[in-house]
Amino acid sequence: WWKHVEPAPKDPILGVTEAFLADPSPHKVNVGVGAYRDDNGKPVVLDCVREAERRVAGNLNMEYLPMGGSNTMVDETLKLAYGENSDLIKDKRIAAIQALSGTGACRIFADFQKRFSPDSQIYIPVPTWSNHHNIWRDANVPQRTYHYYHPETKGLDFASLMDDVKNAPNGSFFMLHACAHNPTGVDPTIEQWKEISYQFKVKGHFAFFDMAYQGFASGDPERDANSIRIFLEDGHLIGCSQSYAKNMGLYGQRVGCLSLVCEDEKQAVAVKSQLQQLARPMYSNPPVHGALIVSIILGDPDLKQLWLKEVKGMADRIIGMRSSLRENIEKLGSPLSWEHITNQIGMFCYSGMTPEQVDRLTKEFHIYMTRNGRISMAGVTSGNVEYLAKAIHEVTKA
Ligand code: LMR
Repeated sequence: WWKHVEPAPKDPILGVTEAFLADPSPHKVNVGVGAYRDDNGKPVVLDCVREAERRVAGNLNMEYLPMGGSNTMVDETLKLAYGENSDLIKDKRIAAIQALSGTGACRIFADFQKRFSPDSQIYIPVPTWSNHHNIWRDANVPQRTYHYYHPETKGLDFASLMDDVKNAPNGSFFMLHACAHNPTGVDPTIEQWKEISYQFKVKGHFAFFDMAYQGFASGDPERDANSIRIFLEDGHLIGCSQSYAKNMGLYGQRVGCLSLVCEDEKQAVAVKSQLQQLARPMYSNPPVHGALIVSIILGDPDLKQLWLKEVKGMADRIIGMRSSLRENIEKLGSPLSWEHITNQIGMFCYSGMTPEQVDRLTKEFHIYMTRNGRISMAGVTSGNVEYLAKAIHEVTKA
């Protein structure tokens, strides 16, 4: 039956983890996948999550959730994106379902887009998280790109981005990273977001926000929602994907949310029913455990405070490692500028290293990262930062 099936290419991000695990070297370093580590390089379970788990134990039955998932979890999650006192929430204008983390939310949206706007395309930034391409490809939505990153300044190419927004046909769909852009760590400023939102209004474009890193840009989830709030103030009917993989460390629990702002409550009811309809033949209904953890944490003011403190702690450790990595490379007398390590934000540094330089890091130094030069700063620790700096200097010096 399957003679014609060739092996699939390795995933550019998760394939790095596989290669790292297979390397027996005691010096190996994984700065590939965006997964937070403590300063000893160990995965972290947040204290708020441990406490929520304690409360879940004994109370959990194994019943199905509804197709749209946990309403409590979804309600709490919408407050994070749209604001505690959002009129859209009060007026029940948001159609939302629990999703299998950010990937699942993007995928359901892409399928929804295909079903209800079958001739549309999606504009995706260059570069973007590699899986975005897979998601819209598998949903059969044609992809276009828009300028985002400027390789020379290692910052935002705002002028070209705005040109692309202006030149796209009216009413185009755009995928935007709400904060802590992956892989570049480069976000528009508030002023730039306002201009983007204004231009979207002029052109009648639809903004779909992927918000996988809320809290990781500034350390404060509320501030990290600024981009979305600006669009909402301008009256856009946006879409949004949210994930608790990073900011609650619930990577493997696959818990997130997909939401679409609608004209009114009636439309929101219809849209939600269609989102559920998309979920049903794919996975029927989402898993219960992660949703319970999130509901408990966000539903208890003390646990929520603890969570906010822990998110800030993770963001701060990463900021500290940015300074340390930059200082260590500069100390070695690198002739190159490494300012972007501390200018960029969120979990990643888009280093500017070439695929060949990355290959050398892996072969000669057992340092694992994606070939686009992205360093997951969350994997950098006091223990490996010097080693990493030396290796980077070695492969980048002329
Ligand atoms: C990443 O970009 O490393 C993360 O979002 C993990 C993933 O699923 O690719």
